[in-house]
Amino acid sequence: MNTADTAHNEGPSAFAQAAELELRHVSKRYAGQREPAIGDLSFTVPAGEVCVLVGPSGSGKTTTMRLINRMIPISGGDILLGGRSVLTRDPKELRREIGYVIQQIGLFPHQTVDENIATVPRLLGWPKERVSARVHELLELIDLDPEEMRDRYPAQLSGGQRQRVGVARALAADPPLMLMDEPFGAIDPINRTRLQDEFLGLQEKVKKTVVFVTHDIDEAIKMGDRIAILREGGVLAQYDTPREILTHPADDFVAQFVGADRGLKRLALTRLSELKLIEPNGRRADASDGAQRVPVQTSVRDALSIMLSANGDPLTVVDDDGRVEGLFTLGLVEQLLADDAAAPPPGDGSAQAEAQPASQGRPV
Ligand SMILES: Nc1ncnc2c1ncn2[C@@H]1O[C@H](COP(=O)(O)OP(=O)(O)OP(=O)(O)O)[C@@H](O)[C@H]1O
Ligand SMILES: [Mg+2]
Repeated sequence: MNTADTAHNEGPSAFAQAAELELRHVSKRYAGQREPAIGDLSFTVPAGEVCVLVGPSGSGKTTTMRLINRMIPISGGDILLGGRSVLTRDPKELRREIGYVIQQIGLFPHQTVDENIATVPRLLGWPKERVSARVHELLELIDLDPEEMRDRYPAQLSGGQRQRVGVARALAADPPLMLMDEPFGAIDPINRTRLQDEFLGLQEKVKKTVVFVTHDIDEAIKMGDRIAILREGGVLAQYDTPREILTHPADDFVAQFVGADRGLKRLALTRLSELKLIEPNGRRADASDGAQRVPVQTSVRDALSIMLSANGDPLTVVDDDGRVEGLFTLGLVEQLLADDAAAPPPGDGSAQAEAQPASQGRPV
């Protein structure tokens, strides 16, 4: 992987800029704490990927974030950003290079949207015109009209808009790493889905290394290239792709955490376009046969749900131009689940031991 040491952020909008993040045997014991909040945590997030941290309350997610940007001192181990230990950095300087988005203390209430987004570029001493251009660019990126929005105060925005401005502020100096601690936690489900989709679209463009904390396993599956599941004491229960975690949970804790419906959740990861559909056998594209039609981009989970409400009859799968691609049947779902279950876990399948899963450390 590209272990770019890209900790410097000049360049007007070097969107590809991202750095690998590595935690090496990190531990944290707060003063007066009997058991450490984090005992011995190691994992690596490749540059440009989204790693979602999930786990029960108190498992050390926020602590991990604060250790990464040195808001709190580390007790043991090391954290490397772009191959360089964050411990060698001036904490203030480091924090300007790490975007941080949190749920509660969002924006500075007495500053306009413009001033909020411009915070870090100003601290970095960017010339005025460049700051202004950057604010404009970011507002467009998050789909807010710069003319209308830049002079408003946070109280004059909706919750979702505030959260987007928070993301823009974190992105302002083009940081190689973004930390997002339950960024959408306080948003209602509909807007939350929208913000998630927007963020994924944004991430397509900016390709940052992101550590994203959530309580919600569905959000983790949707947002993460990889998911790190923590348990009490900051112990890494599993670190894998969403598909692997759903197909081969490392132990009972993970299986319970992802839920008994993990088979269904897995179906949401596959689109009809990825299946070998049944030959249409002369079915016509004009819907005269009465079969339900679904676009190829539909997820298998959604297609299954549609099929069940249509008495289990096969669905006709059509492409963007309405051409029939094939049929989707219950048999295909069965086959998909069986194939997934039969696929061996990556690496040496025997090593998924309980306390120290094989996937700990650098993922395959
Ligand atoms: N400043 C502190 N002083 C002492 N103990 C702390 C402090 N901050 C957190 N802790 C403890 O460290 C552990 C991990 O807390 P942390 O905030 O990292 O959990 P979390 O996974 O983010 O939980 P949540 O999902 O509730 O946000 C908890 O047991 C918590 O009580
Ligand atoms: Mg927390």
